[in-house]
Amino acid sequence: MQSLYDLLKKHHQEQVLRFVDKLNPGKSSELLHQLEQLDFDELDQLIDEYVKHSPEMKIPADLEPAPFFPLKPETAGREELYLQAAARGRELLQDGRVAVLTVAGGQGTRLGFDAPKGTYPITPVKRKSLFQYFAESVLRAGTKYDRELTWYIMTSKLNNEETQEFFEKNRYFGLNPENMIFFTQGTMPAIDYDGKLLLADRNSLALAPDGHGGTLLALRRSGCLDRMKSDGVKYISYFQVDNPLVSVVNPLFIGLHDLEESDMSALMLAKTEPFEKLGNFCISNNKLMIIEYSDLPEHLARARNADGSLKFIAGSPAIHILSREFVSELTREGRLKLPWHRADKKINFINDRGELVIPAEPNGVKLESFIFDALQLADKTLVLEADRAEQFAPVKNQTGIDSVESCREMLIERNARRLERVGVKVPRAPDGKPAVKIEISPLAVIDDEDARSYCQAKNICELDSSVDNVYLT
Ligand code: UTP
Repeated sequence: MQSLYDLLKKHHQEQVLRFVDKLNPGKSSELLHQLEQLDFDELDQLIDEYVKHSPEMKIPADLEPAPFFPLKPETAGREELYLQAAARGRELLQDGRVAVLTVAGGQGTRLGFDAPKGTYPITPVKRKSLFQYFAESVLRAGTKYDRELTWYIMTSKLNNEETQEFFEKNRYFGLNPENMIFFTQGTMPAIDYDGKLLLADRNSLALAPDGHGGTLLALRRSGCLDRMKSDGVKYISYFQVDNPLVSVVNPLFIGLHDLEESDMSALMLAKTEPFEKLGNFCISNNKLMIIEYSDLPEHLARARNADGSLKFIAGSPAIHILSREFVSELTREGRLKLPWHRADKKINFINDRGELVIPAEPNGVKLESFIFDALQLADKTLVLEADRAEQFAPVKNQTGIDSVESCREMLIERNARRLERVGVKVPRAPDGKPAVKIEISPLAVIDDEDARSYCQAKNICELDSSVDNVYLT
């Protein structure tokens, strides 16, 4: 204990031991274990670089917009490539070469929901949770491609138990539990503005998940990469837990990644305005990178092409395909150096009297790494344009932009368009919005092809406009 105290004193962090004398030995072991995991020399550096100072993002002088494969192929050659890619993607799915990965380790602070975000009841009619919606999509994809998919879910130490209990209680929503793998990401200690480690409790540091960049090392440390290898998985279909619109597996995207021999690929959306809160796909030194919206200089954000479109138009919805071998290579030594990003947050802590303090304003810094920083470490990357209305409706807040409200509206709208595309008449209000709330179960429909056969089989030509809700299952 004396040597630990000396080490902490040397690094000006001895305050974390101020309650240890009053704890029984069993209780203090958690804190001692957490402290043993920390590299205090590295921590000193991080505190100096990210807490005491706010690092300025250095924008490379040669920054250019990233090229991308457009949503609609503009030449016959490209059209042929897209057809081949979609066919290749389906083949890879049928051969069991693709695993699904959802990152669900975040704390969802903006949503203000007191449970793992994936358990949030999101769908417009049935209020299915995000997890249920994905589970049913994974189940349907498994049936469609005649090959059960394995679904990896990354949690954090803070929500792992609750997440697993949720799935158990709901009998994995019909999925085979053997093909559902939960793994936990790492944590980083939260630090106050004086550079001191905070305590969440007398016997625990205030720890926060280490960002979605933590996925890569967590895949290795948890043994998931080994399992993928022995299952014959080549590609990982990666998405975030708060975007129910995403295709859990997208044959075109997977196939293109394969045909182009990409290490890490990304979907992109056309930004609606210069400062939209999406990361920007850029190129510097021939490497693909994402520059956060807050870091892109104003003159670049506003720059326009001759036709008036934004020069830096490509925004990131955080949907990727990763090659298993690329992740394996990156994490070979059991280490991976991605840059840290500083997030100013309200961090609950206990004060000198041992009382819990719930701050009203940000009182410290959490350090996170971001998965998109791995793009710069890849030899081959590609970006494919997606239709926002079909693929992206993140749930970050209760109301307003990127909210529960906007997500439900977009789910309804996508369902309406999907039905209209296959010839179903959907009642619309004078403002053009669907006049009924429409929910379609992913157990029946995950794409337009499914919608067509479903509506034909059920003989659906028109939706009843006299009801409030329509649920198709
Ligand atoms: P966000 O950056 O939106 O964070 O995560 P969040 O924790 O969900 O929400 P706020 O910022 O506290 O309101 C985007 C995705 O990355 C996952 C989240 O679960 C979400 O799917 N994520 C984020 C992790 O898995 N681990 C992390 O450490 C951070």
